[in-house]
Amino acid sequence: MLFMPHYSLFWFILAAIVPVLSGNITVDDQGIDPTTGTSIAYEAEWAIGPNCSNCSSKPDATLAYDGTWHDTSYSDSNPLEFMRNATFSFTGTAIYAYGMVSGAVGIDLAFFLDGQSAGRYSIPATRDFKYSYNQLYFKAEGLQNIPHTWILQNGNVKNIMSNVLLDYLVYTKCPCRSLSKRTDNKCITGTKMLKQALRLLSGVRPRHPVRLNSQRLPLPGQKRRPR
Ligand SMILES: *[C@@H]1O[C@H](CO)[C@@H](O)[C@H](O)[C@H]1NC(C)=O
Ligand SMILES: *[C@@H]1O[C@H](CO)[C@@H](O)[C@H](O)[C@H]1NC(C)=O
Ligand SMILES: *[C@@H]1O[C@H](CO)[C@@H](O)[C@H](O)[C@H]1NC(C)=O
Ligand SMILES: *[C@@H]1O[C@H](CO)[C@@H](O)[C@H](O)[C@H]1NC(C)=O
Repeated sequence: MLFMPHYSLFWFILAAIVPVLSGNITVDDQGIDPTTGTSIAYEAEWAIGPNCSNCSSKPDATLAYDGTWHDTSYSDSNPLEFMRNATFSFTGTAIYAYGMVSGAVGIDLAFFLDGQSAGRYSIPATRDFKYSYNQLYFKAEGLQNIPHTWILQNGNVKNIMSNVLLDYLVYTKCPCRSLSKRTDNKCITGTKMLKQALRLLSGVRPRHPVRLNSQRLPLPGQKRRPR
């Protein structure tokens, strides 16, 4: 006789659900958020790095996440260049932005989160032409688990010349967010998660189905988490 006690079925299903709904989501500069379909919005004249014949920055595409990056430049002394933004909207508790850096041109970024100034990333030109990959341009952690708008602005008025090579974003999605209508600042954990899972088991379906395939992608150079 096949007998599966209720609680072991419960844990079996919970173990299958939790890793899918929690953790880091990677969004390529040219890709989409696999859980929402959202992509990064670029102001005019950002170039797609590997296809840009007149861009002076030529990093190795094989070392870029998904083989692509977005390139734009700003210089106070060139009236044709202006400070271009890249904008991304997400719901989660942390966001990280990664790109390449070379000393050929400086880089001087300003960040905004939900309309507030959220920091700078600034490295002057060093004449070192070697590229460094997967450089952390920006991070914000401990955010409320509510919708956020993140903006990268390339360049700052009356400052160094800036060439940004944006490669990908990572943001942290809260456990069980998609099963919940809650918008408070805590991830749903412990007993709350059990209640959510029980509700799911009893037939309430999540409003937004979560795609299973892309969420466990390791970042370049990062090991897969053991399950
Ligand atoms: C998400 O990625 C960041 C940066 O790599 C890391 O510090 C953080 O621990 C990760 N969070 C989760 C939930 O995996
Ligand atoms: C970049 O160029 C390649 C080769 O010509 C082409 O297949 C690809 O679609 C281009 N990508 C974009 C985003 O234009
Ligand atoms: C590259 O050339 C195209 C077409 O002339 C132009 O629209 C674009 O702004 C240039 N990009 C850069 C980064 O100079
Ligand atoms: C870029 O974003 C910043 C912050 O919201 C804003 O002050 C600036 O006007 C934006 N630039 C453009 C050209 O929209």
